[in-house]
Amino acid sequence: MAPLNIAIIGSGLSGLSLALALHQQNIPCTIYESRPASLNIGGAVMLSPNALKILDALGIYERVRDKGYNFETLEYKNGSGELLEVYEFGSKEKYGYEALRIYRTVLIDELLAMLKEKDISIVFGKKFTKVVAETENDVTWEFQDGSTQTADILVGADGIHSTVRCYLYPDLVPAFTGMAGVTAAVPTKQLKIPTGYHIPVTIMTPNGGFVIAPQEVDGSEVLIGKQKRMGEGFDRAGWDRYMADKDAFVEFLQEGASNFPEMVQNAVSHIPHNKINVWPFYAVPKLEKWASEKRRVIILGDAAHAIPPSAGQGINQAFEDVYMFALLLGQADKVEMQDTLSFWQDYRQKRITKVMWLNRQTDLRRMPKEAQTSGEIIEEIELSWLYLPNFKDDVESWVNGKLEKRD
Ligand SMILES: Cc1cc2nc3c(=O)[nH]c(=O)nc-3n(C[C@H](O)[C@H](O)[C@H](O)COP(=O)(O)OP(=O)(O)OC[C@H]3O[C@@H](n4cnc5c(N)ncnc54)[C@H](O)[C@@H]3O)c2cc1C
Ligand SMILES: *[C@@H]1O[C@H](CO)[C@@H](O)[C@H](O)[C@H]1NC(C)=O
Repeated sequence: MAPLNIAIIGSGLSGLSLALALHQQNIPCTIYESRPASLNIGGAVMLSPNALKILDALGIYERVRDKGYNFETLEYKNGSGELLEVYEFGSKEKYGYEALRIYRTVLIDELLAMLKEKDISIVFGKKFTKVVAETENDVTWEFQDGSTQTADILVGADGIHSTVRCYLYPDLVPAFTGMAGVTAAVPTKQLKIPTGYHIPVTIMTPNGGFVIAPQEVDGSEVLIGKQKRMGEGFDRAGWDRYMADKDAFVEFLQEGASNFPEMVQNAVSHIPHNKINVWPFYAVPKLEKWASEKRRVIILGDAAHAIPPSAGQGINQAFEDVYMFALLLGQADKVEMQDTLSFWQDYRQKRITKVMWLNRQTDLRRMPKEAQTSGEIIEEIELSWLYLPNFKDDVESWVNGKLEKRD
């Protein structure tokens, strides 16, 4: 069988990592990105062992490990510094990897450099608009400039507001959850954190939580942030206008600071406008299928599942999609595409469903009152299912099972 030819729409973290994962399986691909360069929405992301194991297998981890802040636990404390809970985001000893907090742009730049070294092509300024034809063998689509392209498989890695997804779900529009994350970055020394006080930390008060998370290799900068409850969302232009009013966000971060320990007041005392980041949370309902009827169009990453931020798994789960998908395509000459895709989606959806549970558990801890009124139970969180998956073995044993059945 000739190798498959894959087109990837979107050069976010999903699209870039997918290209590298496919390359490792000797599957050729091209990335098409609507913007003139990879989108950098700013800020840092937290990577946990499940994702780091994947980045390690793709040769990325060793190149980025020392370019971010390595840590193991997040603490939850109350206003007077009493420890409420310790959440493991990584552990070298238990899960093989410490957690890594790294600027998105650092990660993107490293991925782009690797693409270049491996001669994987990425075309900027090409905006996907619609699929024009799908057959049993290939798919043809159109770009905004009117040109068309054909490939064996088209992968939508084009984010939460995915256009590729419209082909599978013409009527689906992500819904605004009414919540947004408002964060800023300030120098760590500005906080005057008491000696011995562990960061990252989420400080809980009856008025909500305040996050402090170190970034930069040496932890010399911290992200600070709160969640903002707001009514309606906006359209794109509306969000742009809303986000332009930086003073309003500074005010929001400063609001109620006196209910928090002194370091929070220090943290919000001086916030540079260009270090403010606002992340409105959108939700996509659980999708029945991540592939078209004829299986030539596939979605993954945020396009397939928008994961609320509570447990910090958004991008980590996208890496899982990508890696599993590439491993399975590497076996495409042995098993039917239809079986491959249903195994992939089932496997991935099961983990996403558990991550949704983890998110809810995290939220309940942050909103103890809501837990009491909703009658939901705060369960023990055990994380080895999340941090110790073995994608390679799972793919291998599934493929072997298929082959045995056929013989
Ligand atoms: C402010 C902010 C902070 C976040 N912090 C965290 C965090 O700490 N931890 C975490 O796990 N997650 C975090 N997330 C979520 C995380 O960013 C997403 O899960 C992740 O970016 C998804 O990657 P993706 O590649 O699937 O999509 P995206 O990053 O959205 O990339 C999609 C790409 O597709 C391109 N594109 C879109 N439409 C088209 C088109 N029609 N044609 C061609 N190209 C197109 C876009 O330009 C973009 O480059 C955060 C999100 C935001 C907004
Ligand atoms: C923090 O928890 C301790 C122990 O439960 C309690 O004594 C203290 O009042 C709490 N402080 C705040 C500000 O809630």
